[in-house]
Amino acid sequence: MGGASAARRALVTGACGGIGTAVAWRLAADGLAVVAADLDGDAAAALAATLPGAGHAGLACNVADEGSVTAAFAQATGTAGGIDVLVTAAGLLRLRADGTRPPLAETTLADWEEHHAVNARGTFLCIRAYLRQWQGGARPLAGRIVTFGSVAAQLGGYRASSAYIGSKGSVMALTKAAAREAAPLGVTANAVAPGLIDTAMLRLSMADGEEGEVSGAIPLGRIGTPVDVAGAVSFLVGPDAAYLTGGVLDVNGGYRMA
Ligand SMILES: NC(=O)c1ccc[n+]([C@@H]2O[C@H](COP(=O)([O-])OP(=O)(O)OC[C@H]3O[C@@H](n4cnc5c(N)ncnc54)[C@H](O)[C@@H]3O)[C@@H](O)[C@H]2O)c1
Repeated sequence: MGGASAARRALVTGACGGIGTAVAWRLAADGLAVVAADLDGDAAAALAATLPGAGHAGLACNVADEGSVTAAFAQATGTAGGIDVLVTAAGLLRLRADGTRPPLAETTLADWEEHHAVNARGTFLCIRAYLRQWQGGARPLAGRIVTFGSVAAQLGGYRASSAYIGSKGSVMALTKAAAREAAPLGVTANAVAPGLIDTAMLRLSMADGEEGEVSGAIPLGRIGTPVDVAGAVSFLVGPDAAYLTGGVLDVNGGYRMA
């Protein structure tokens, strides 16, 4: 595993999404070597090739699939050393064709299971693979786990589905369990809870022309950007967050005040 002068290595899932791409860029700019992971391995490799700095790679990973996560970690850690920082940005939200929230009473078991497979199981599988690589005595360089909850899970959601909300609640609880178990390794685990962030996922639920109304419900008066979220992840991954663990960092423009 990497020596004292080696760059810390971060694996970012969902790296080709709106937030994941901004996180990959920010961590690369911060000096980390980034392994970009997403469903489409070619797109992840293309992203990795554009990042500033050295040592980046891209690979295919379906976080819902145990074998795929195991293979991705094996590929990422094969010759290059361990993954010090895990950011689980992969996520799924499905709405009705007209962009509205499917009522709980009409939610199918398949819909429930699909959201939990990607959001909850996917986060579990990645955290487990991250921790397994440190069994046997090796230790990460300033190890960090950053997961993705959601303001929807904190508020019951206005736009997201119950299946999504349930899965994100699971992620936030799991992050606390991970924080407790990873602490002896010197690894912190925290969740980011984004509010309304301008990505493909938010646009699923927002009609053309609705942006003004949506922004008006946010105290800071605007929809968030992926860069806003990447800044929060950078903080949690960096040295100033060394004594924060088991927490949830809201990045929501005041949409929900704890
Ligand atoms: N955008 C928001 O307003 C918002 C709010 C709260 C939480 N979040 C969370 O932030 C994270 C990033 O979301 P985003 O807005 O960038 O969404 P996005 O749709 O732009 O990106 C999601 C990414 O996850 C990837 N992905 C989906 N299923 C996957 C799987 N099985 N394996 C691997 N990758 C998979 C997609 O390919 C995509 O690149 C998600 O966890 C999301 O739930 C987003």
